[in-house]
Amino acid sequence: MSPSIGDMEPAEAESAYFNEYPPPKALPKHEALARAFVERHVEANRRVVLVTSGGTTVPLEAQTVRFIDNFSAGTRGATSAEYFLEQGYAVIFLHRQYSLLPYSRHYSHSTNCFLDFMDEAAPTSDSENPDHGRIVVRSEYQDQMRDVLRKYRYAKQNNLLLLLPFTTVSEYMFELRSLAKLMRPLGSNALFYLAAAVSDFFIPRSRMAEHKIQSSEIPANFSDDEAVGSNDIYTGENAPEPPKAGKKLVINLDPVPKFLHRLVDGWAPEGSMVVSFKLETDPSLLVYKAKTALQRYSHHLVIGNLLSTRKWEVVFITPDPPHERWIRVPKARRSKSISGVEDQVGLAEIKKGRDGSGPESENPSSDTSGDGIEIESIIIPELVKLHGNMIHKHTEASRG
Ligand code: PMT
Repeated sequence: MSPSIGDMEPAEAESAYFNEYPPPKALPKHEALARAFVERHVEANRRVVLVTSGGTTVPLEAQTVRFIDNFSAGTRGATSAEYFLEQGYAVIFLHRQYSLLPYSRHYSHSTNCFLDFMDEAAPTSDSENPDHGRIVVRSEYQDQMRDVLRKYRYAKQNNLLLLLPFTTVSEYMFELRSLAKLMRPLGSNALFYLAAAVSDFFIPRSRMAEHKIQSSEIPANFSDDEAVGSNDIYTGENAPEPPKAGKKLVINLDPVPKFLHRLVDGWAPEGSMVVSFKLETDPSLLVYKAKTALQRYSHHLVIGNLLSTRKWEVVFITPDPPHERWIRVPKARRSKSISGVEDQVGLAEIKKGRDGSGPESENPSSDTSGDGIEIESIIIPELVKLHGNMIHKHTEASRG
């Protein structure tokens, strides 16, 4: 039996995985756009960050009706992209189609419906037809919207933001590989910020059903190789003989190879900085898993976050001291989050074995202005400093 992709060496897993799938249809177009984008910013000696954002889908059928997905809305990626632009970076935004986008995210989320920001203007004269009056932004949102609009326009007019969508995990992998290679001329000016929630499991194309998995019996006169009786387990695979038992859908998934290895060791430009994320739900595991990832892939930074506190705290795990650094939004400045659990802030730091009564590096909360701030407004400037140090070291080393 041939080994599964999960058991192979990284380079072998790469060719096995990419041979399973045709490249996404949009790839040549995306490559042409990215090539021109990179050339422009190499010429300007500008730093470029590839931000990945949102969740990836895992199709269950080749002609996909059903797929497995995950929770990510792309908030981290879209928000971070804005702060990178503010820091003078050009941004390639590789995102899940229809997930949140930089700038428009302020008005596109279900809790931020854009219609709630609008109003009909009062007629300015008796002759004005009230049925054709102007639509305006409500007065209380004018300043914020003007600010967002100006930043968006600036990024667009100066070609600083390239939006490239993906949907499935394989599309994501193809795009990531191509973009990393196209970014080579940037050298140490390239930064990879891998915030997308990438699926860890998939159905190899060779085992995937071509057509929609049936949930009810197909009439006998329709019978063909893929029709399955209602008393069978349907595996969702091209298995010649599905097991005969109760009616269930049993899905057999293979591990998606961790392409971080190949990104760091092969695809990414020499001297570039690679930042991955580690998401956990169990506070006692977060720091351990983030440190293990850094050791395993030998890259430059893992940003650890817990699902329940990710809007208020993250941990930077680095190869150099201090090795572990917590970044937190001061209590008074935390924005509300429906899914967040504030009581859990600090738990992942304490659970690691420290017996202190509170998180060691709670940011000083002397700033009590009350307005919520986004944690990305702290993360990105810190990261930009680290990237600056790396560029400096690389430049010194190449001068000999
Ligand atoms: O979008 P939001 O709602 O704002 O949520 C943001 C976030 C929680 C998704 C984000 O902050 C985050 O943590 N993203 C990474 C989630 C994740 O995929 O973690 P992981 O532990 O499964 O993977 C760790 C790293 O390995 C990731 O950087 C990923 O790019 C990489 N990976 C993952 C799977 C895979 N097959 N190959 C990979 O290289």
